[in-house]
Formats: sequence, C-alpha cells, structure tokens
Amino acid sequence: MHITVGIVGGGPAGLLLARLLRRAGVDCVVLESRDRAYAEQRQRAGILEQSTVDALRSCGAGERLDREGLVHDGIELRFDRRSHRIDFPSLTGGRRVWVYAQTEVVKDLIALQLEDGAPLFFEAEVRAVEGADTDRPTIRYLHRGREQALTCDYVVGCDGFHGVARSAFPDGVQRVYERTYPYSWLGILADVAPSCDELIYAHSPRGFALHSMRSPFVSRLYLQVPNGAEPADWPDERIWDELDARFAVDGDWRLARGPVTAKSVLPMRSHVLEPMRHGRVFLAGDAAHIVPPTGAKGLNLAAADVIVLARAFARLHESGSADLLDAYSDTCLRRVWRAEHFSYFMTTTLHADPEQSPFDSRLQLSQLDRIATSPHAAAELAENYAGLPLG
Ligand code: DHB
Repeated sequence: MHITVGIVGGGPAGLLLARLLRRAGVDCVVLESRDRAYAEQRQRAGILEQSTVDALRSCGAGERLDREGLVHDGIELRFDRRSHRIDFPSLTGGRRVWVYAQTEVVKDLIALQLEDGAPLFFEAEVRAVEGADTDRPTIRYLHRGREQALTCDYVVGCDGFHGVARSAFPDGVQRVYERTYPYSWLGILADVAPSCDELIYAHSPRGFALHSMRSPFVSRLYLQVPNGAEPADWPDERIWDELDARFAVDGDWRLARGPVTAKSVLPMRSHVLEPMRHGRVFLAGDAAHIVPPTGAKGLNLAAADVIVLARAFARLHESGSADLLDAYSDTCLRRVWRAEHFSYFMTTTLHADPEQSPFDSRLQLSQLDRIATSPHAAAELAENYAGLPLG
C-alpha cells in the first residue's frame, strides 16, 4: 500500500492533521495503536485557544464545540489571600479561550474521520518508521495479527513522547533540551458545579492549586503534590481540605465539594527535540515537545504544528513547491520555544519548590503583584495564555 502522508498516532494532532489534509485534497492514512474506547476516554487538558478553535471549525469539527464549549474571557490569579482577574479580550485585541475537553475534541474528530475521512486504523501498532532519508519512507505496523508495510511520500509522527516516530531520526541529528520539576499534579474530576465562572490559578505557601471545569456540572481540580505521590495517598477528604487551604482568600468564597469520579497523578517536564523534521519524516505535538501543564499549552501547540504542516502539504499539492515544508521545523520551533517559556514561567511562578528560600517566595509574590497592577505585565500573560495568532 502507498499513500502520500502516513500519520502515526490518532490523538488530537494526528486526527486534526488528517481533517486538514482532507480539506486540502491530500490523501493520508492514520494509524493508532490503541483502541477507540481508550482514545476517547483518556483524560487530558481542556483549554482551547482561539487558533485551535478556528482550525477545528474550518474542518467541520466545531459544531458540538460551539454548542457545548464554554467561552472564557479571563482567568483569576490568587495569591497572598487576594484575587485578581486577568481579562483576555481587552488585553489581546479580542482573543479568548474555550473550555472543551481534549477527549471531546478526539471524539468529534474520530466520528468525522470514520464518517467521511481517510482510513483510520485502531489497534495498528507501529513497530518502526524506516527510510527517513529516502523518497519512500515506510511505516511497519502490526494490525489484526499481521505485519504490514505502508510506503509513503511523507511520514508524520504524532505518536507522543513515547512514540516510535522519533526513533526514525538517525543518531546524532537531533538535539534534546530538557527540564524536570520537583513536583507533580494530582488531578481530579468531581461531579459538582464549578465554584467559579473562570479558572482560578492559586499560589499559596502550601503549593499550587488550579480550579478548572469540564461543564456547568463537572469540576476539574489540580493540586501540586510531591514527585512520587500516588493517588492512594490522597483520600477525597484530604484533597478537598488541601484545596480549601490553598484557595483560601479574604472574603466569603467557598469551594463546593462533590463525588470524585477520577483521580490521577501527572508528571511535569519540559522537553524539546530539534529539528522537528529529518528527510521525509516530520514530528508534531508531544512527539517533538512537552510542556508542563500550567497554562494549558500542550494541546494547542500540537494543533499549531499540524496547522502549519497542513498548509505546507497544501502548498506542495497545489504548486509543487516544498518551501513551506522546508521551513516547517523553524516555523514551529519559534512558537514552541515561546510556549516553553510561558509554561515554565507559569509553573515556576505559581508552584512552591521544596528547595525554595523565603527570598524566592518573595520574588514570586512580587511578580504576581506586578501582573495584578500593570496592564503591560497582564497583557504579556494574557497574550501568551489566549495564544499568539498563527499568521
Ligand atoms: C486545565 C489544565 C491546565 O493545565 C490548565 O492550565 C488549565 C486547565 C484543564 O484540564 O482544565
């Protein structure tokens, strides 16, 4: 079997790329190692930037998002027992974000793809991507007990941090930039109406807490926990008590409690591979870069990669010019490094490093106070949070 673009990975990046390529008239196949139920249930982030929403709408995947997604025009920062709101539209020329879970995006994209899209194979376990330096890179995979080979003009690895596509790059052609953090997140879903209209990012001497949501009836909350923490260390009561302590403000705000329906620990790391292309193999999303979750850039960065890539394939298809494909890695990495910096900034400004000195804590509070009192400092946060225009 031969195809123009072979996509390894049927997460949001691979599926969005397939939709965008279909619109551009470029044929492709998507190979996903997990089954459909797994892909549709995995809990991930829930904030979509304007440009991600625009791309989903442009390929027909905006209908349920426009019906059920929650538009947010700002966030609240809490520190020093005070609240401060950052308004996005007034600081960014009208940009805003949507609360709509990644799992819902994936469900919508899978449904469209199976309805009228290019082939999407579940439980297709990619073993190797070979021939990045040749004109015919090949994806070797196992499907229904049979070894298969898909030869492609181009291969795109959207198979995440632990995927196989990145191993298609020969030794020595890539540089890795990394940072780890001395804390993790414990995330819960709870069947209770959110206690706020907008997300709350809280700095406290006890550590970071985030109040997010999935719908008017479901809250999503995160707590900074030590590395190595297990969900079993955190009975529900302990979680709610700790959230109460970290969100505490002067005034009469209260956190509503409800049944906890999911609980998991998320690692925090920053990771960038450069370049994002070798020969005819391209990497997109988590296969190429990871950000810590604070600020919700991961999914949006993955979407930005495949939007750039789809435009490049469309140009090749229409005019025969590979100029945008050749520029892919440099174009994406500029945005990637901006998001890496923003995510690092949000993480290190809001979390309590177990090693941090009282001096470090005062610097964090000073920076937060600056954001709360200077429209310039607030605009810098708002522009990065709501997402820089894709051009
Ligand atoms: C969510 C996750 C984030 O990392 C964040 O910064 C905001 C919201 C979420 O899952 O809702």
